Amino acid sequence: MNEEQRLAQRAQTSNTKEKDYSKYFESVYQPPSLKEAKRRGKEEVRYRDDFEIDERLKQMGKGRTFFIQTFGCQMNEHDTEVMAGIFLNLGYEPAAVREEADVILLNTCAIRENAEDRVFGELGHLKGLKRERPDVLLGVCGCMSQEESVVNRILKEQQHVDMIFGTHNIHRLPSILHEAYLSKEMVVEVWSKEGDVIENLPKARLGKVKAWVNIMYGCDKFCTYCIVPYTRGKERSRRPEDIIQEVRQLAAEGYQEITLLGQNVNAYGKDFDDITYGLGDLMDELRLIDIPRIRFTTSHPRDFDDRLIEVLAKGGNLMNHIHLPVQSGSNDILKIMSRKYTREHYLELVRKIKEAIPNVTLTTDIIVGFPNETDEQFEETMTLCEEVGFDHAFTFIYSPREGTPAAKMKDNVPMDVKKERLQRLNKLVNELSAEAMSDYEGQTLAVLLEGESKKDPDVLAGYSEKNKLVNVRAPKEMIGRIVDVRITTAKTWSLEGEYIGPTERGENE
Ligand code: 5AD
Ligand code: SF4
Repeated sequence: MNEEQRLAQRAQTSNTKEKDYSKYFESVYQPPSLKEAKRRGKEEVRYRDDFEIDERLKQMGKGRTFFIQTFGCQMNEHDTEVMAGIFLNLGYEPAAVREEADVILLNTCAIRENAEDRVFGELGHLKGLKRERPDVLLGVCGCMSQEESVVNRILKEQQHVDMIFGTHNIHRLPSILHEAYLSKEMVVEVWSKEGDVIENLPKARLGKVKAWVNIMYGCDKFCTYCIVPYTRGKERSRRPEDIIQEVRQLAAEGYQEITLLGQNVNAYGKDFDDITYGLGDLMDELRLIDIPRIRFTTSHPRDFDDRLIEVLAKGGNLMNHIHLPVQSGSNDILKIMSRKYTREHYLELVRKIKEAIPNVTLTTDIIVGFPNETDEQFEETMTLCEEVGFDHAFTFIYSPREGTPAAKMKDNVPMDVKKERLQRLNKLVNELSAEAMSDYEGQTLAVLLEGESKKDPDVLAGYSEKNKLVNVRAPKEMIGRIVDVRITTAKTWSLEGEYIGPTERGENE
């Protein structure tokens, strides 16, 4: 029995007790289990490049169109590119608008309750469409599909959904679609355990200028508030040679920027048992490839090591912007969050990074209103932000996620207190952002132009090395190139400037 069959069987047998499901449909189904997803076994990760579309399915999409609506993080955006690649290989074409598509997928996010509410809202809107065009196939995939409570709710309340499949089942899309066309029942295929790393999945990248590159999948950190280790499985790093090959290929195709993706990129390589190789080593090799910009996201302070700092300090095409989620400035809260670092450790890491990369920009993620957070503990988050001087922070009110340890904690902080804290924090973050933005006035920045700005087609928009949005009047033929822009005006979320000309690039400056 191969890995896929074994996992399939395990997922099925481990859930036979879930009597709830059985009365809804009889077809083949594999519902998820968060409990199962939590287990971290010693199974070896198998690297495969045997993805193939069955001959009989190759014409499935002929004359049909697809539309994928993506929620959540870059990982989901990139999964959408993979699924789009599979659709194209099945003969489907992309639909311009959702209403005209023959297959609609919602690629969902489970990180906070409001992300889930949005998806259920969309499913409500799509009821009417399914009534008008019953032949449309409607699917739910992504992180929400990995949660049994969500799958149960869809089964009960959203019977117009035709298929639900999980983050580990993306490569199974051809068979899932095939099954959905044949079956009158909802097709549910969600493996709770991660599968193999499949290297040859097709990808239909959304842009021609910037590209995402997965370096690892999953997360083993189990922060007590976070659903990701359950929805994305255990940490599995791609082999360096496969990543390097992909980046080389992207460079040859003319891509100007790549972002290395992982839920916790600093743990890259920790799961290899044959080589000692980490993110710093990978970046040190990638920087030699002739691609102008390399970024990575998302970092975990605990695993951010000196080797990576040393490599990032070499500069060149390694961008000097680091997103380093801190979550809280209080040691007590960090402990209950199980972040496995202290405020002092974080500040020391920031000091080392700033010392090695003097021009670095730091951004972060912060959760306010974690269960039982006191005023004093919240104040420690405020002082940490001031001390670090983040360029920007993404701030969130804690949202309990069923199945995580924090969701079981009693919480004595009223919602209006949490909202007030969020407001105060946002005010501080906006002040820090404004300060950082105004520093750019008068500076000349290298900007990778991506296209016309949303508001004015005569204005082009792009991003600086530190990932700031810059609007500039520049010749259209410069789209896709890196140009010098002298910044004239700093706004809250963007910069405006005058076009100077193409940026002179030395060998990996
Ligand atoms: N509630 C609120 N915010 C959360 N995040 C992750 N889980 C939760 C949760 N349960 C935030 C963290 C993380 C970012 C992607 O989302 O700040 O870094
Ligand atoms: Fe959302 Fe996390 Fe899933 Fe990304 S990995 S879509 S942030 S739950």
